[in-house]
Amino acid sequence: MVFFHNTGFCASAVRSRRVLFSLLLSVACSFALAQEQNVPHATTSADDTKASRFVSDLLGKMTLEEKLGQMSQISYKDAHSVSHEERILKGQTGSFLFLTDPAEINRLQHIAVEQSRLHIPLIFGYDVIHGFRTIYPIPLALASSWDPSVAQHVQSMAAREASAVGIRWTFAPMVDIARDPRWGRIMEGAGEDPYLGSRMAEAQVRGFQGDVIGSPDHILACVKHFAGYGAAEGGRDYDSANISDEQLWNVYLPPFHAAVQAGTGSLMSAYMDLNGVPATGNKFLLHDVLRKKWGFQGFVVSDWESIASLKTHGFAAGHDDAAVRAVNAGVNMEMTSSTVRDNLAAAVKNGSVKESAIDDSVRDILLMKYQLGLFTNPYISVDHARGELGSTEQRDAARAAAERSAVLLRNQAGVLPLKKSISSIAVVGPLADSKPDIMGSWSLAGHPEDAVTVLEGLRKKLGSAVTINYAKGVEIDRVQPSIFDDLFASPKPVLKTEQERDAEFQHAVDQVKKSEVAILVLGEAQNMSGERASRSTLALPGRQQELLEAAVATGKPIVLVLLNGRPLDITWASQHVPAILEAWYPGTEGGDAIADLLAGDATPGGKLPLTWPRSVGQVPIYYSQNLTQIPNETDTRYWDGSSAPLYPFGYGLSYASFQLSNLKVEASSLRPDGSLTAAIDVQNTAAVAGDEVVQLYTHQRAGSASRPRRELKGFTRVHLAPREKRTVTLTLHGSDLGFWSPQTHQWAVEPGVFDLWIGEDSTATEHVTFSVVP
Ligand code: NOJ
Repeated sequence: MVFFHNTGFCASAVRSRRVLFSLLLSVACSFALAQEQNVPHATTSADDTKASRFVSDLLGKMTLEEKLGQMSQISYKDAHSVSHEERILKGQTGSFLFLTDPAEINRLQHIAVEQSRLHIPLIFGYDVIHGFRTIYPIPLALASSWDPSVAQHVQSMAAREASAVGIRWTFAPMVDIARDPRWGRIMEGAGEDPYLGSRMAEAQVRGFQGDVIGSPDHILACVKHFAGYGAAEGGRDYDSANISDEQLWNVYLPPFHAAVQAGTGSLMSAYMDLNGVPATGNKFLLHDVLRKKWGFQGFVVSDWESIASLKTHGFAAGHDDAAVRAVNAGVNMEMTSSTVRDNLAAAVKNGSVKESAIDDSVRDILLMKYQLGLFTNPYISVDHARGELGSTEQRDAARAAAERSAVLLRNQAGVLPLKKSISSIAVVGPLADSKPDIMGSWSLAGHPEDAVTVLEGLRKKLGSAVTINYAKGVEIDRVQPSIFDDLFASPKPVLKTEQERDAEFQHAVDQVKKSEVAILVLGEAQNMSGERASRSTLALPGRQQELLEAAVATGKPIVLVLLNGRPLDITWASQHVPAILEAWYPGTEGGDAIADLLAGDATPGGKLPLTWPRSVGQVPIYYSQNLTQIPNETDTRYWDGSSAPLYPFGYGLSYASFQLSNLKVEASSLRPDGSLTAAIDVQNTAAVAGDEVVQLYTHQRAGSASRPRRELKGFTRVHLAPREKRTVTLTLHGSDLGFWSPQTHQWAVEPGVFDLWIGEDSTATEHVTFSVVP
């Protein structure tokens, strides 16, 4: 067995006060060394010395109360017995969240910098998840682009808008692997796969932070939710995650590790308990893995009240105990609850927390504030903010990202793109003309009035030459209140009588009948996914399925455009609706982008970042399972239905079509520290240009543990002109074949025979074998 041995320290650990721990870095760190040249250094070493001297001097002047203040973050929106101004003046808070007004941000910052005793600037945080004022496609959609440069650009544009108003810290990216679409937060991540998830995680960190922390127009990233939140039992938000060590190391932790390697300055601890220990009080995660193994030097913020909720978990005896255990585990800053501010002075006195631990915590926070330039450049220009918000450049970027994120799931008989000769189109559905819905969840600072709906986009695109017959058809009942209802104007439930509803339904069917083709825009209302928005079914909510079936029954060609945050049960549609375009929630420019795609001015090229189930009974479902007794190709896992997915991971069509052939590898073996180049010919066989995502999968045939039947290990999105043929190469690094073995409890690349496939999705058939040699 060949183990990777660390020949040095992780570079990022060298500068740390935790340098001693870095000597103990395990093979997990050396596994990451392959990417180390890309680790951005927040500052040069001369700057480092200056920064740490500055922070040490400051720490030396701080009272314990002021230190605990830096460890406390307050929600601006919540009413408190002590005013925000007083808290700032007394040094009782170091950060606010949920404030977006630039003038108010400046006002509070002036109080902190000019009137508080030590003049320490505040850091303002916000959930800039997929855009700030300009809303970009949801993260699951960005992952569907299979183009990390899109995710990076989107987040750098979002950072530009947010930083313009004074927000210097986003609670993103969310890098939780999710394999259960009932979980509402699946829309915030990159789907099911650790390799794709890692590439998206690092791209987003770079997008938010720029080359170095403190780059102009950029903001601090906060990678969340550390760790395992995506495995909530039953897909129920906040529920426990029980994850084996093997799955934790090989599936759930890699995107976090990639984000740390990419230089994220902060992380957020998760709500749920991981294998019985709440993540916010979990020393194994926050100290042993994050600091000691990975050499993370930024700071950790708890999730909203997740320190106080250690008591709810039945973990901490009270809020005093909760604060002690969270901070001793490795949390630096408390979001919204006040257990730290209220209890840690006493805890320091009675010895349950060392003052040196408080100093370490505060030092990490102050260093980050220093690196962000907050001490030298705390204010913003309100005029500049006005110019940046919703600029043409922002909107253009949003439109381009939405076009690259859409996934074409079906296109029978060339229904799409729409023929230029068409003179009438029905545009039908509860989401066809809904501005808030097209933005999706986590679009808190977005303005619905900025958004372009599908109906508007098509009207602009097709002009007066095409008659558009619009009808809503059905309502999506928005009976469930959203947790954001007080922050954000979600559409209110529409109250209609049964007769009114039936008339609306019939009107929609009539619109379809009198048109040459019908576009049905269906899916989920904005607040049906996101936080606290899990669903027990994947069905199209309300009477949408009925409407779809009635539209198909007219015999007219139907195009289904989906706006949603999770895969839905579209098994019937996949057999009866000739064209299906998955647009996810595409954001402010969604309507324009969808119109471009439907009209053929843009060609869909996205691929699924998750396995699409046939029904909710199949979940959790993912492509990289292990093969076990009677390989499940035989499809006999269920008595009453198929165990194959509706669409495989990596799947997506184009208006072009591609043929992949002639797979070759440059050598038949590689060493764990080496690499192997694979080449394949990709031919665009169509008369239109299009993008193909060429995907490389491997399988280890035997080893110290069973390995997944296939694992993604490389991909690239290429654009091919009509009929163009190109040889595409992908490099496989030996280190990418490493895994954490449940037998050895080590990361290792094990020698042996591997399969390698390259193709258009995870069912790729072009195949070779190679060996890993010691
Ligand atoms: C709770 C969510 O879990 C987290 O993702 C978010 O960043 C915070 N609330 C702040 O809004």
